[in-house]
Amino acid sequence: MMTMLATITPQSSTLKSTTTGYLNLHLKFSVSVSQSARRRCLDQSLFCTRDPISSSSRVVAAASNTSNLVEEFDPEIPVERALTPPSSWYTDHQFHHDELDRVFYGGWQVVGCSNQIKDNRDFFTGRLGEVEFVVCRDDDGTINAFHNVCSHHASILASGSGRKSCFVCPYHGWTYSLNGSLVKATRTTGIENSALNEMGLKPLRVAVWGPFVLLKVTQATWKKEEDVESDGLVASEWLGSSAGRLSEGGVDSHLSFICRREYTIDCNWKVFCDNYLDGGYHVPYAHKGLMSGLDLETYSTTLFERVSIQECGGGGSKAGEEDGGFDRLGSQALYAFVYPNFMINRYGPWVDTNLVIPLGPRKCKVVFDYFLDPSLKDDEAFIRRSLEESERVQMEDAVLCENVQRGLESPAYDKGRYALVEKAMHHFHCLLHRNLKI
Ligand code: FES
Ligand SMILES: [Fe+2]
Repeated sequence: MMTMLATITPQSSTLKSTTTGYLNLHLKFSVSVSQSARRRCLDQSLFCTRDPISSSSRVVAAASNTSNLVEEFDPEIPVERALTPPSSWYTDHQFHHDELDRVFYGGWQVVGCSNQIKDNRDFFTGRLGEVEFVVCRDDDGTINAFHNVCSHHASILASGSGRKSCFVCPYHGWTYSLNGSLVKATRTTGIENSALNEMGLKPLRVAVWGPFVLLKVTQATWKKEEDVESDGLVASEWLGSSAGRLSEGGVDSHLSFICRREYTIDCNWKVFCDNYLDGGYHVPYAHKGLMSGLDLETYSTTLFERVSIQECGGGGSKAGEEDGGFDRLGSQALYAFVYPNFMINRYGPWVDTNLVIPLGPRKCKVVFDYFLDPSLKDDEAFIRRSLEESERVQMEDAVLCENVQRGLESPAYDKGRYALVEKAMHHFHCLLHRNLKI
């Protein structure tokens, strides 16, 4: 068990170094945009064209518009009487922009798993909102993270993932070491007032907890040498008092990485989170195949500062007997939601994680990573069947989420109510309100 947050040492886990060749699914559903959404888009495009209002006035107006929308949800009202946030939280372009700024750029965010940078010179890239990043392990075994943007003319530097001894810009060949310093600037002889030694890659804060790699994008000026935050502080900031409970539940166990799958869904990222946080409410109606593996009577939800944990007994041996010994879910399932966008699911011999990445007001990508007890990592039949079942559930959820997004864009709907089992969802909305209000 890894209960502490590790920062820079090579992992000795059994995680596999590369993804295996299971199918990557990209779900694409055509969705017609409703009248109101078209109107909102038109409003946005008008807002962005030249107008007599100064840009600073526009910024103030936009901020105040978001503030007004934020205040439409009252976190002081208990779940029994509360209304959900207005649909504009899920559709408005400016709200989405401000949400990236206030929710995603200020705190620790999971961006990958440590098996992606298992060996020296391994790297992976990604995008969070408008932030392009690259994470790598340098020749000393130190994990570094940088904005993935060339200092010359802003080209994206590295792409995809793999192994490199340095980063060479594909545009004009400027070259950076794995610790971010600029080691070669082509054809710069004769350039005056250049401070090339100050034109290295801009660093990002990076940490590792269990098998997860975290980044912190901060607006404040920060230099790599100024990393004063201890591992304990990072863990407590990210997980709060839930860290011990999550370790007890086995979410940071040494498991074998099996595969990654990615789904692009036409919905706001919060729609996917809300669906996850409804306390099993939708399971009997939308996942009939999942029902036999879960004992919904035992469903419970525990709230922590930034984490909620939903737990449910599994069908266990009964489900296994009914299905020829196949028992993917085991005797207990634990579903941990780490605010704002990361889910850790521990069931049977499996852990899977779901990272929800916003791609726009009405589009998100969900990255699933699957980890399995090492004793089963070569059981191809069990793995294949488990992944097929999991995939069926994800596709059912994708349809639900896209339907909800379309409903949110309809003029017929603005705010709804919570069922009492949906208190983790209410908790999520309260945390969002706290982050979003200025
Ligand atoms: S933009 Fe990278 S070298 Fe020119
Ligand atoms: Fe679901």
